[in-house]
Amino acid sequence: MAKIIDGKKISAQIKDELKEEVAKLKEEGTEITLAVIQVGNDPASTVYVRNKKKACEYIGIRSVSYELEESTTEEELIELIEELNNRDDVNGILVQLPVPKHINEDAVIKAISPLKDVDGFHPQSVGALSIGQKGYVSCTPAGIIQLLKRSDIDIEGKECVIIGRSNIVGKPMALLMLRENATVTICHSRTKDLKEVTKRADILIAAVGKPKMITKDYVKEGAVVIDVGIHRLEEGLCGDVDFDDVEPVCSAITPVPGGVGPMTIAMLMYNCVNSRKINETELK
Ligand code: GUN
Repeated sequence: MAKIIDGKKISAQIKDELKEEVAKLKEEGTEITLAVIQVGNDPASTVYVRNKKKACEYIGIRSVSYELEESTTEEELIELIEELNNRDDVNGILVQLPVPKHINEDAVIKAISPLKDVDGFHPQSVGALSIGQKGYVSCTPAGIIQLLKRSDIDIEGKECVIIGRSNIVGKPMALLMLRENATVTICHSRTKDLKEVTKRADILIAAVGKPKMITKDYVKEGAVVIDVGIHRLEEGLCGDVDFDDVEPVCSAITPVPGGVGPMTIAMLMYNCVNSRKINETELK
């Protein structure tokens, strides 16, 4: 029987730790503020933004929220970001993605000051991670490291295979696993003999975006399986991993829902609370 890695429990622990830290900071007269920007009203984004604001409220972070019309121009959005970059009372800036098609996402990400880039998407944050310098780390991969560490799963020296090479998950995940001294392989849609490669993994991280694609044929006996996917099927939510098929062969696995998902917001909160520490670096 595999150990079920409980992301709900671990994210709650992290949020409680952060709540204590924020209370201490408040006693010292310091308040943490996150600015959250949503452009348009994509229903999924509305749910994510609501959950982020709720987490802020729980922890004691002040959130200031900007709900902009779908028709907002790139210039108007960047103007708001620049205003927030210059505000001393704002620690973090989050623009919920995706933005409407007429706005260039890369330009928006680049406009956010690397000192306030709590999503860890700015090229400077990604660059710092890749050369081992301090900076904000993308929340989902950072959350996966916490899931592994807080479940007492050793990373050092392990074969880690990541399926998916996105800028938000696959690539930063690889860099973080490397920082933890794993031997890392990234697979993608053009990988030959995918199953051969994934079967080498002691730790297999699936971020493919295809419901239940990863069956036991992809998994080595005793591997740890981390499922980043989330899909809404008629029968309910599922991940990229076929949980019922894989669970009997692995040693530990994240469920969907309740695995990786809750960690993303917890790590966003971590980035906000630790903005000062993260910025005490070469950045300034
Ligand atoms: N859209 C989906 N996931 C994310 C995320 O982690 N951050 C932002 N800003 N937008 C998203």
